[in-house]
Amino acid sequence: MKIGVIMGGSSSEREVSLMTGQEMLANLEPVKYEGIAIEIGRLEELADQVRDIDFALLALHGSYGEDGTVQAALEALGIPYSGSGVFSSHLCMDKHLSKQKLRAAGIATPDWLLLKDVEEQEEHLAEEVRKLGYPVFVKPNTGGSSVGALPVTDETSLLLAVRQALEWDSSVLIEQFIPGDEITCSILGGELLPVLGIRPQTAGWFDYEAKYQHGGAEEEVIVLPEEIAAQVQTTALETYSLLQCGVYARIDMMLKDGIPYVLEANTLPGMTKTSLMPKSAAAAGIGFTQLLDRIIELSIR
Ligand code: DAL
Ligand code: MG
Repeated sequence: MKIGVIMGGSSSEREVSLMTGQEMLANLEPVKYEGIAIEIGRLEELADQVRDIDFALLALHGSYGEDGTVQAALEALGIPYSGSGVFSSHLCMDKHLSKQKLRAAGIATPDWLLLKDVEEQEEHLAEEVRKLGYPVFVKPNTGGSSVGALPVTDETSLLLAVRQALEWDSSVLIEQFIPGDEITCSILGGELLPVLGIRPQTAGWFDYEAKYQHGGAEEEVIVLPEEIAAQVQTTALETYSLLQCGVYARIDMMLKDGIPYVLEANTLPGMTKTSLMPKSAAAAGIGFTQLLDRIIELSIR
């Protein structure tokens, strides 16, 4: 079976995608699959490059990759692909939309504001953020890997952070910071894999370096009291199903006073050497090769 590993793309996470793609190629089951590297830049290049493959294994992250556009293009071309469908991919890439859905369903998520036009909203911005309470996280609404994201501890650096995030996206999410344990829940085929706790080492928060530098963060299976573990599991699985994810996803959360606050769902979570989902799978005895095999089989089914 010819597996095209689609990587690169044009989002802020292009470099991460190339790392994910290389890791996937190196770990595909060699007898069963023939891996073909397909590095794209702009989405238009996709159609010419996927002609001869039987299946598209998506190593893309971010806009025009994880947000439903590539998924829709592959559907139009009649090529089966890995992971969630068009709608879920789009919904999960948009943090504001996902959070609205979560809140409406009674799933805890930190309070937030969505900012589209800084000039228009500037007048009330300081007051509204004060209501959220510092510190806050300022993030491009459809970003990933912490690119363009910053923690803001007081009003003096707020506008700077907002302007920086606006360089990456037309809308910006300002989210209340929940001081607790950062945890992540990988889900494969509707089953929760071991939950990892994240302790950034290089910076005070889980920034790009902490995510992708070797030793940037300590990420270990977290042992939680039974009741809290059950609450985390329920929240992760409810989020996965509410946001209509399929095959696999990774739900990021902050855990405080036994309450898991969902930050976001990643429909194409990183699969680099330092990424969380492969670590979580390994902790369940599922090696990278087997993880990819399961993803392909679940996607074709
Ligand atoms: N957005 C990155 C790739 C992740 O969630 O792992
Ligand atoms: Mg993300």
